[in-house]
Amino acid sequence: LAKTVLIGFMGAGKSTAAGLSRQPALDVDEVVEAREGRPIAEIFATDGEQAFREIEERVTLELLDAAGPQLLAVGGGAILSARVREALRDCRVIWLFTDPEQAWERTIGGAGTRPLAEDPRAFRERHDAREPLYDEVADVIVPASRSDRLDDVLAALEGLSGSGVRTLWAASLSGDYPVYIGDGLLRTQRFWPATVLGRRVVVSDQNAGRLYGEALSPVHANIRVLAGEQSKTVAHAEIVWSELARAGVTRADLVVALGGGVIGDLAGFCAATYQRGIRYVQVPTTLLAQVDSAYGGKTGIDLPEAKNYVGAYHQPAAVIADSGTLATLPAEELAAGYAEVVKTALIAGGRLWERVCAGAAGDEPWVIATCAHTKLRLVERDERDSGLRQVLNLGHTAAHAIEAATGYARYRHGEAVGLGLLAELRLAGDEQLRGQVRELLAAHRLPVTLDAIDLDAVLAAAALDKKRVVPGAGLPFVRCERPGYVVSGSVAQPQELRAALGELCLA
Ligand SMILES: NC(=O)c1ccc[n+]([C@@H]2O[C@H](COP(=O)([O-])OP(=O)(O)OC[C@H]3O[C@@H](n4cnc5c(N)ncnc54)[C@H](O)[C@@H]3O)[C@@H](O)[C@H]2O)c1
Repeated sequence: LAKTVLIGFMGAGKSTAAGLSRQPALDVDEVVEAREGRPIAEIFATDGEQAFREIEERVTLELLDAAGPQLLAVGGGAILSARVREALRDCRVIWLFTDPEQAWERTIGGAGTRPLAEDPRAFRERHDAREPLYDEVADVIVPASRSDRLDDVLAALEGLSGSGVRTLWAASLSGDYPVYIGDGLLRTQRFWPATVLGRRVVVSDQNAGRLYGEALSPVHANIRVLAGEQSKTVAHAEIVWSELARAGVTRADLVVALGGGVIGDLAGFCAATYQRGIRYVQVPTTLLAQVDSAYGGKTGIDLPEAKNYVGAYHQPAAVIADSGTLATLPAEELAAGYAEVVKTALIAGGRLWERVCAGAAGDEPWVIATCAHTKLRLVERDERDSGLRQVLNLGHTAAHAIEAATGYARYRHGEAVGLGLLAELRLAGDEQLRGQVRELLAAHRLPVTLDAIDLDAVLAAAALDKKRVVPGAGLPFVRCERPGYVVSGSVAQPQELRAALGELCLA
């Protein structure tokens, strides 16, 4: 039986997780200390890091191969060894994730308790250098804040036939849930989480429903709406609520949102409000939904006046993203999703931005999972959009206004986001970055110019932006200083947005 192995940087809670689990577990650091008869700090102090790494590699390889407890917590640096990384290929690897600041706090950096947590700069560099290695071997990513919930994570992994699936544990104040991302999850594996029980009522549109509805059987009821943004209305919500009532759906049942972001938002909103809230599962089938909209629990519908103006925060019980479903997605829809990939890469910076600039396709499983992870990290810290999460609205002040002013019919949401990024990067003033983004969008055949558009109507719609809390105080937008450095709370004057949009009309 393959072992389950906990990896992660110091302070991530590997020993805590192993200790609290009901599964018999072994902690490699403890075995090293017991065999050497001295604490790791002392091995470092007397013999040096290199000597410690050799002992660590030897003991880790031996324990990975030995009979005995199935759950193993390995030292933070064990993955530096190529032999250990190779041996981990046969295991289920769970990465307890920390960002550097959190890791420093959790190790009480500078307190003299850990040999490698003394100098904050060296600590950060070490963290950044290791991150790609953890990422390379991980099957499952769990935030360090949930190191005490390992048994829930393990339960959610039941029935998952390992290879090629990345599972993310989404944490939020109102509830946690598993996110499964991989090719074939739906169609070939017919995977359904063992922890999410209830009769399934599938809400879908004619495309996703026809192509993938069958893979979700057994189904208690099917509810179909017409495809497209025009279905994100109060009238369509009423249709879904009534169908749920007619099908006798109770709080023990599950709504399954099968489709793109429109279905996820509409079905999620209906689940949030039907009988004051029932559970739902997101099964995203567009790139846009797999990299963005399926996560984070924002659900809602549009008003003719403004987009996403009525809604609720309601976290899903699980997300099942089968990247194989993207094979049937029309090219324009794939491109629309790519705009959200570029947005997320600008927010994340680092390797995601590098890979996107190097030409990574949006539908590569690593890109999808890394976009999802980027969003979930923000939602964990700010579920209700009171600060940090707002950076996810990069490009969206302009995008939502363009969509509303054109009756939600001229541009796909993703296309509007691409245009919105160009307008808001102009407001931020980094011409080189704007040029780079323009090239990426154009290479994916996304619009980089605005067709004849009523700029007054766009500005009137922008004035209704939900981020705006003080009437008349300018238009709030998210400022991208450079990839990886994005701040919310910037304000533009209406004439500045008008100029930025006007330029897109002329381009
Ligand atoms: N809740 C959030 O956090 C959030 C975030 C971003 C965007 N959104 C919302 O998402 C919506 C846009 O989502 P979208 O771009 O997925 O649009 P969409 O849901 O309209 O889907 C696009 C088209 O693709 C079709 N389709 C879906 N899956 C398919 C498949 N596998 N094969 C073939 N055709 C398929 C659909 O029928 C539709 O015609 C917008 O309303 C936007 O506001 C929400």
